[in-house]
Amino acid sequence: MQDLSLDEKLTLLTGKDCWRVETLGGKLPELFFSDGPHGLRTVKEGEHALKATAFPTLTVLASAWDTALAYEMGELLGEEAIEREVDVLLAPGVNIKRTPYGGRNFEYFSEDPYLAGTLAFSYISGVQSKGVGTSVKHFAANNCEHDRLFQSSEVDDRTLHEIYLPAFSLALRARPWTVMCAYNLLNGVYCAEHEKLLHKILRDELGFDGVILSDWGAVVDRAKSLKATLDLEMPHSEQAFSVLKAAYERGEITEEEIDASVERILALVRKAEEAKPLRTVTHTAEERHRAAVRIAEEGAVLLKNEGALPIKDGARVLVSGKKAKTGVYGGGGSSCVDSAFAPLPLDELLKRENGTLSVRYHEALFHDWGNLYGLYGMRGAVMRAAECDVAVLVVGGDGTTDCEGCDRASLRLSSVEEEFIRAVAAVNKNTVVVLYGGSAVDMSGWIDCVNAVLYTGFNGEGGNEALSRLLTGRANPCGKLAETFPLRADAALGNGFYNRYSEGIFVGYRGYDARNEAVQFPFGYGLSYSEFVYSDMTMSETGGEFCISLDVENRSERAGKEVVQLYVGQKFPLVTRPPRELKGFQKVALGAGEKKRVTFRLQKEDFAYWSPALDGWRVEEGMYTVFVGSSSREIRLQQQIKLSQRGPSQRDPQEE
Ligand code: GLC
Repeated sequence: MQDLSLDEKLTLLTGKDCWRVETLGGKLPELFFSDGPHGLRTVKEGEHALKATAFPTLTVLASAWDTALAYEMGELLGEEAIEREVDVLLAPGVNIKRTPYGGRNFEYFSEDPYLAGTLAFSYISGVQSKGVGTSVKHFAANNCEHDRLFQSSEVDDRTLHEIYLPAFSLALRARPWTVMCAYNLLNGVYCAEHEKLLHKILRDELGFDGVILSDWGAVVDRAKSLKATLDLEMPHSEQAFSVLKAAYERGEITEEEIDASVERILALVRKAEEAKPLRTVTHTAEERHRAAVRIAEEGAVLLKNEGALPIKDGARVLVSGKKAKTGVYGGGGSSCVDSAFAPLPLDELLKRENGTLSVRYHEALFHDWGNLYGLYGMRGAVMRAAECDVAVLVVGGDGTTDCEGCDRASLRLSSVEEEFIRAVAAVNKNTVVVLYGGSAVDMSGWIDCVNAVLYTGFNGEGGNEALSRLLTGRANPCGKLAETFPLRADAALGNGFYNRYSEGIFVGYRGYDARNEAVQFPFGYGLSYSEFVYSDMTMSETGGEFCISLDVENRSERAGKEVVQLYVGQKFPLVTRPPRELKGFQKVALGAGEKKRVTFRLQKEDFAYWSPALDGWRVEEGMYTVFVGSSSREIRLQQQIKLSQRGPSQRDPQEE
């Protein structure tokens, strides 16, 4: 660094253009950034985005509750980055789904920080195993799109530490090359220039020593952002150099502060340069596509099934809804991917999957809905549904309803879609709804009149192949919701100036459970074609570590997978706490009739809460309950334990 002049150092502190770090006239090698979390949106200057594999969105990956799958998706994204000479993938987003109205929820993992952070750790590890960097984003408390450039998230310290930081903290254990700061303000200060957030918390408290880069255009005062230790302003900013030069000459920023950021940027460039010769691509585009199908399969959530699924051999099937032809690869905004893979129509795939089926497609909902042709479409579909054994209706959101830069206008389907579902269900008792959506959907207008619902998020280029396997039973649904589907929800989008996080730590199931509030489908919920039974829970403790074991048995004739979830709750806390919080999960594959023992380990810090009084984590002595369940509300087994300074002791297991 010593051979860089001050001007060169200041030049380095903002991007060369939209996607690259400055090269100082060739003194430094190129470093290239590219979106996005579920596929490469690689834009070379003046060109269209290059085509790439459209993997399922992170909502779908999260619904698979599978760290190995998250790692694999990361690896494959890393390989596509290599093929496009991308050095840092601007992903993953780990913001918490505070409200189901969030426009970018499809890009994020969960309402729960433990699940989000655990999967992000695996995803980042996968990408970086290929010598490609990541950028965990958007730091922090960027939980809606409403006025995202100007609105201040008003969050108390305990909520920040227990809800909005832990996913980043867990992700940082994978040592992401960069962290991207958010657009919004946090408690009145822009994240991009938030000394406490970036320096005291991210660097000192969470131990991040890499490059902090801005979200694109997130820097307002470049000198203040430098002092807060934001290293790289993206994209290139014409006035950055002069602003920094003037601030330096006025003594507002020091050479030491400049050098610190320059050194971190140079270290990033060196890291990428050293990784280049070691990068390897070992999978073909076809293999990446097959993986996209598998992720879509594992991340689909069967929410209701009164026997219509799996579709039986020889059935007469009606498929209706434009999305049956096109699928919905992703949502709108910077994460969108231009896939090279043309969608395969679901009706065709059903026939291919099971040759005994007689499958007809009938378009029913036309954009110019009001005209006679549109009415004919719906009436025609209803008439055909009456003649079929099973009616598969493919409905829901897409990039127009779930998009970066704006929040969802409604949690419901369109009135036309709801009317269509009710009309078909009235004539066919085996009506199956395949539901697209980037986040929770309010199904109250029709859920009771249909036989089955398969929620499929935005499931990438392989979505219809996955759906055809799931609907015919060639694949067994095993997904679990990574967010609550509530019966009612406050949009909680703020007033454009500030967004007061008045619910505090009671986000998602933490809140619904604390209020004993009924929900449509709880966090962690998902059905299967198999039936799983939990038994024989035991707990032991050695040196302060708890080992919890139990048996899980597949009581069906069909192989399947179960996501066993472990929650912890304190019985008589000195401070208000949620009834239970996720502290572990295991996905177990079980053949027909097979039983396996599943084991969890808990450390003392898994019982902690953030104490504003102590300005740190605290574990209180006293009684705790360890819950094991197939969702946050289907607790199958539980056991009490007592934590004391002398160490824990446990009581007899209780079956709920
Ligand atoms: C966008 C997004 C961010 C993305 C970046 C580059 O505004 O907020 O997630 O990586 O800009 O496209």
